[in-house]
Amino acid sequence: MTSPCFVPFIFLVLIVGCAARPFYPLPSKNDDSQRQPIQTYRPYNIAHRGSNGELPEETAAAYMRAIEEGADFIETDILASKDGVLICFHDVYLDDTTDIAEHKEFANRRRTYEVQGSNITGWFTVDFTIKELKSLRVKQRYSFRDQQYNGKFSIITFEEFISIALDASRVVGIYPEIKNPVFINEHVKWSDGKKFEDKFVETLKKYGYKGSYMSKDWLKQPVFIQSFAPTSLVYVSNLTDSPKILLIDDVTVPTQDTNQSYWEITSDSYFAFIKEYVVGIGPWKDTVVPVVNNYLQTPTDLVAKAHSHDLQVHPYTYRNENIFLHYNFNQDPYEEYEYWIKKIGVDGLFTDFTGSLHNFQQWTSPSNSDDNSSETKLLHRIASMVSAYTKG
Ligand SMILES: *[C@@H]1O[C@H](CO)[C@@H](O)[C@H](O)[C@H]1NC(C)=O
Ligand SMILES: *[C@@H]1O[C@H](CO)[C@@H](O)[C@H](O)[C@H]1NC(C)=O
Ligand SMILES: *[C@@H]1O[C@H](CO)[C@@H](O)[C@H](O)[C@H]1NC(C)=O
Ligand SMILES: *[C@@H]1O[C@H](CO)[C@@H](O)[C@H](O)[C@H]1NC(C)=O
Repeated sequence: MTSPCFVPFIFLVLIVGCAARPFYPLPSKNDDSQRQPIQTYRPYNIAHRGSNGELPEETAAAYMRAIEEGADFIETDILASKDGVLICFHDVYLDDTTDIAEHKEFANRRRTYEVQGSNITGWFTVDFTIKELKSLRVKQRYSFRDQQYNGKFSIITFEEFISIALDASRVVGIYPEIKNPVFINEHVKWSDGKKFEDKFVETLKKYGYKGSYMSKDWLKQPVFIQSFAPTSLVYVSNLTDSPKILLIDDVTVPTQDTNQSYWEITSDSYFAFIKEYVVGIGPWKDTVVPVVNNYLQTPTDLVAKAHSHDLQVHPYTYRNENIFLHYNFNQDPYEEYEYWIKKIGVDGLFTDFTGSLHNFQQWTSPSNSDDNSSETKLLHRIASMVSAYTKG
């Protein structure tokens, strides 16, 4: 685990990195031919809201840390501001992960809205302009995680998020979610009459994200578009051929837009339908392996069923803390990864601790091509030429 003296050092690097980096490097400054490609031979390491086990979620710092720790993809939730700017933020309300409650000027902005069938009271992103949202500071969601970075970072836009991935020194994919599309389309109106999903895809295209899974364009700038709303995925499949993932909630939660039950959206006939639009599913992990009294039960056939329809399976969310680890894993997150990767056979994992998953994979499934790939050989050749020149 991270030692106490290690974290402040990383933090300094991040602060300097954040302050110094330009946010709109279009097109990417990096020469693609020299960037290490994304690995595609082992399950994807998907950095859930960045490295949010360590740093406040969905911040530039959390994403940069995840890239440093070996993420294949950085994951984010896209919502919108009142003035239609797409932002990286998980909840439709700001209460749990920002300092909004301390902002007296916004005290009268609290509202109650119906969100997916429940009335929620709080400060909602859709009632604030991007300028106002930028005046807030983000904080850690869980009290048992490190609080020392609370108040240090702001909310970032979808475009700023993309620029972090494009600026990375190796190819890092993005994994944005079309979050609460029913709610956002109800409360945010764009002047050109377009809707949330249109704006989402426009942003991806503006930055060059295109191409089907494993195509040349995709490998250059990998992306998975995710949503819990089947209607959104079917709609955006008309706008882009980028690969899409259908998220699947707890077995008791119906979809937000089609009111289908869990059983309907995991049936063979539904998979046969949705595979025309998506390359995989992103289920809550307890729906793959049910849990009773914090012990794993017999796995369902969800993974086998999805694989039989050529659908990948990327479950969420893997977290290191004891409070999240089922007793079968003896308080050891590496045992949990071993189980899901070797026994259940998933194709990607959403983790709050990208560094842990990366270490596990490096120990158990190091790249065969790490030292032998043509790219690495070329880099080594260039490095030896440069060092010969420097010495000369
Ligand atoms: C939410 O509140 C409104 C207004 O009080 C009410 O009409 C509606 O039924 C409530 N919805 C739910 C899901 O409780
Ligand atoms: C996709 O586009 C076609 C042609 O514009 C249109 O007829 C169809 O309704 C669209 N499908 C969806 C799901 O929006
Ligand atoms: C959703 O489905 C449930 C169960 O089939 C049904 O009771 C409910 O009325 C439906 N709600 C809507 C809004 O269609
Ligand atoms: C890579 O190179 C090493 C040493 O030259 C060799 O032992 C290994 O088998 C090679 N791996 C592959 C996948 O070719």
